[in-house]
Amino acid sequence: MTIQIAGTGSALPERVLTNANLENMVETSDEWIRERTGIEQRHISDQDTVASLAAKAAKEALAAAGKTPADVDLILLATCSPEKLLPCCACQVQSILGANRAVAFDLNAACSGFLFALETAYAYLTTGLYRNALVIGSEVLSKIIDWNDRSTCILFGDGAGAVYVEGATEPGHGLCSMVQGSDGTKGDVLSCAVRSGEYVTMDGREVYRFATKQVPLCIEEAIEKAGWEVTDVDFFVLHQANLRIIESISKRLKIGMEHFPVNVTKVGNTSSAAIPILLDELVKSGKIEKGNKLVLSGFGAGLTYGACTMIW
Ligand code: UT7
Repeated sequence: MTIQIAGTGSALPERVLTNANLENMVETSDEWIRERTGIEQRHISDQDTVASLAAKAAKEALAAAGKTPADVDLILLATCSPEKLLPCCACQVQSILGANRAVAFDLNAACSGFLFALETAYAYLTTGLYRNALVIGSEVLSKIIDWNDRSTCILFGDGAGAVYVEGATEPGHGLCSMVQGSDGTKGDVLSCAVRSGEYVTMDGREVYRFATKQVPLCIEEAIEKAGWEVTDVDFFVLHQANLRIIESISKRLKIGMEHFPVNVTKVGNTSSAAIPILLDELVKSGKIEKGNKLVLSGFGAGLTYGACTMIW
């Protein structure tokens, strides 16, 4: 038995912050940001919270799957930017949706969070503990970013993406293989303290090196586990951190950029929300078709990384 995605959704805050806006805030330039990251703009929350964005995305995912909140067994919400330590964001989403039967909790694996949550849903659903799950990645990173630190503030954006998953109903569709990894010894490379009101700090070069080395390796491992060749994959739906990182992974795998959809240019790095936001965009635009072979892969603070393969 495996699981399949039956509906997707996403939500972005209304306000757009362009590179030109950032030029007035820190010593940077549109040219530098585009060249080093590919990012042109990002969405920033004024009133939206991690839970409110997550609930909007979740509603869309439920509607796309033809389900109601009363159907939901499990809500797994990946975030590293909750406004509150208690209650967890997943319980706030449960309350907003009125998904009264659901068991709800948060999971933090930073930018790998959505992938880890999806794989947690796989574990719950394939053991028969629950029949379905809302898996959500949601972030309001703008509140934990130091807007005076040009090495980080240009990178991140706010948003949420969600999927509704259930046991695969058709043979040959759904999640095929998974790879996950963590390296706690590199925790200091990308960190943010909670109680002292500190902001995100990052050794960007170290994260870049880690991503360009580790992500291709875990993608290859997931593909091998699925019994596929790299050339079988229609789309690599990667964590959207930096266009250069994605281009480097495409080069390492020797697969053209046309197989690597990108939206980091328009939404920046939305951490755990990045993969489901992109997935939703691809589904809504009709780019992903039934039977397509996909690889989802993410990396981030922890350090954490992972990849999975699925047939749509
Ligand atoms: O989800 C995971 C989250 N993190 C990441 O994905 C981060 C991965 N790393 C990266 O994406 C890149 O390392 C960055 C985009 C963060 C930085 O690009 P880089 O090519 O590694 O630049 P750098 O840090 O080596 O800095 C090059 C220069 C430095 O100046 P000097 O020392 O050469 O004079 C920086 O001070 O660029 C300067 N710099 C900037 N200049 C203009 C750093 N940030 C900026 C900026 N605008 N925003």
